Amino acid sequence: ADLNLQEIHDLLVSVAHEAGRMIMRATPSQLSSGTKKNSADLVTETDQAVEKMVSTRLMSSYPNFSFIGEETYVPGSTKLTSAPTFIVDPIDGTTNFVHAFPAFCVSLGFAVDKIPTIGVIYNPFLDELYTAIKGKGAFLTRNGGEKVKLPLKSEPEPLKDLSTCLIGAEWGSDRTGVNFELKTKVFAKLAASKENGGAMVHSLRCMGSAALNLAAVATGQQDVFWEGGCWAWDVAAGWCILNEAGGIMVSGNPGDWKPEIDGRKYLAVRAAPTGQKEIVEEFWGVIGD
Ligand code: IPD
Repeated sequence: ADLNLQEIHDLLVSVAHEAGRMIMRATPSQLSSGTKKNSADLVTETDQAVEKMVSTRLMSSYPNFSFIGEETYVPGSTKLTSAPTFIVDPIDGTTNFVHAFPAFCVSLGFAVDKIPTIGVIYNPFLDELYTAIKGKGAFLTRNGGEKVKLPLKSEPEPLKDLSTCLIGAEWGSDRTGVNFELKTKVFAKLAASKENGGAMVHSLRCMGSAALNLAAVATGQQDVFWEGGCWAWDVAAGWCILNEAGGIMVSGNPGDWKPEIDGRKYLAVRAAPTGQKEIVEEFWGVIGD
């Protein structure tokens, strides 16, 4: 049956605002927050309560759709299929949330045939709402005001090379093994001077929320975002918003132009009349060699 994407989008916006109110009422504590895999992988009662509210509201309206949420994900058993699927992170940026650093959001994605089709990201602290429906453009609404089309610069500048870029990248919570070595290498090579064998980018930012990183690339505030190790719920909503703003998402695995939603490694590049492909290839060179 034909899906009414606008209706699903409107429900996601309403749910995002309710989630935002729950998040802003909460008083998380650094010391009492729970951990999952390790001491840097935080979860709070609010993450769990928000996911419960979100899944209850979405599944009562669309009982035949699938639901994947960060807090109810079961490794090995929860699988993304081609069915219409809500992909939800109740609080992306939980570490920021417990430290009251103002970069956290609710991230509500919707995929059909594993393609990001609707994205809603809401940062309740700044009252910034990012939305997109596939084929219909991406938008930002600040403080309940006017809906502004993304990217924010209607004529984005060409991309030249990494040395002129502001780049978002994240450490994530996995601080061991080859993945940690890769992250260390990427951070060092991007930052280093040319004499030291680096790309000497304008600067690196660790915003602490993959969804808000993608939103920042969609607006044009960051040129690139890279992460190896985040999850479908961190990127599903931002991916649709990024694409609709003219940006591209490829894989963090060099050579892979068609990444999977649950591929765990992602590279996002902002809208630009020229240079997107060249930036991707230069970045893959940094990861690969
Ligand atoms: C995390 C954030 C962080 C990223 C991690 C994610 P969470 O999500 O997006 O920026 O580096 O990989 O897991 O745990 O705050 O929902």
